Amino acid sequence: MAKYNIGLLPGDGTGPEVLDEGMKVMRAAAAKYGVDFETVNFDFGGERYLKTGEVLPDSAIDELRQCDALYLGAIGHPDVAPGILEKGILLRIRFELDQYINLRPVKLYPGVDTPIKDKGPKDIDFVVIRENSADVYTGVGGVQRKGTPYEVAIQNMIYTRNEVDRCLRYAFECTRKRNKTNTLTLCGKTNVLTYVYDLWERAFHEMGEAEYPDIKRDYAHIDAITMWMVKNPEWFDVIVTGNMFGDIITDLGAMVQGGMGIAAGGNINPVGVSMFEPIGGSAPKYTGMNVINPLAAIFSGQMLLEHLGETKAAAAIEQACIDFLTSGTLKGLSVKDIKEANMTTTKIGDWIADRAAQL
Ligand code: IPM
Ligand code: MN
Repeated sequence: MAKYNIGLLPGDGTGPEVLDEGMKVMRAAAAKYGVDFETVNFDFGGERYLKTGEVLPDSAIDELRQCDALYLGAIGHPDVAPGILEKGILLRIRFELDQYINLRPVKLYPGVDTPIKDKGPKDIDFVVIRENSADVYTGVGGVQRKGTPYEVAIQNMIYTRNEVDRCLRYAFECTRKRNKTNTLTLCGKTNVLTYVYDLWERAFHEMGEAEYPDIKRDYAHIDAITMWMVKNPEWFDVIVTGNMFGDIITDLGAMVQGGMGIAAGGNINPVGVSMFEPIGGSAPKYTGMNVINPLAAIFSGQMLLEHLGETKAAAAIEQACIDFLTSGTLKGLSVKDIKEANMTTTKIGDWIADRAAQL
């Protein structure tokens, strides 16, 4: 019997509620495959910070390293200045655990509305691989003469060859594994960022030519890709890009696939501990009301199981979610839709867990 040790970081706002449903569904889907979970709870987030001033102690990082995987709810508190928790918890874990891949499937499921006219599930099914450890997120910088008319603010875009190569390798492997159209698109800005994205472009073609001749290589500038993702999402199989551009296009991807209520992501260290999260925020105004949609958290649970190699249990979660989405229970994924259908966060979790257990 496989038993995994999952580190739970419920975080702020509605994070704890959706994570409960995600765990419930994971347990239900995994049980019949002899898979079980032990969970360790980490209460980092806005409340703890406001009470104790502590964001994320070093000792916690060591404990997180002991887990088989991490499962995060949401980070962000209305009474805490922007940046403190995001940088102190989410980004710190990504960087300290070297989760250098941000994996974001953009898949439109049947029964989910996309704002793109005349596009359906057969058109929208791609993956964005966002480099997750470098770029302007970690580049050196600083500020001088702050608050004066002579203020200088510097935040550099920095990439090393190794950071680029390891991300590209993951992206080529992912494209090969998906075996869809076997096309990997590099998203950059080679016409302006002629140092950083030139490095990406050379590394991309060198690796592709030498090691992945079976994978077609394509390229799009960041500004152009925001148009194509909306106009021709069916062109894409796997997109690989740097951290900053990836941050932007993954939110666009979330909208294309039906919104924040359904978008899930993984922060992956292929040789270490990875963390999975619904990408929507903490939705403070709905905290504790049992009205928020848990689907994104449930889909992150699917990704977590997939990552652990529990592919059958992961597939059961995906199918149970599809069954729910096509059951007509909800008209849409918003809080309003959930209320109108007389559903709750818990009831949705129960529905999907029951179905996953039967599959
Ligand atoms: C994301 C988020 C984070 C990021 C924030 C909360 C620091 O927007 O996961 O995309 O910028 O990476
Ligand atoms: Mn983002």
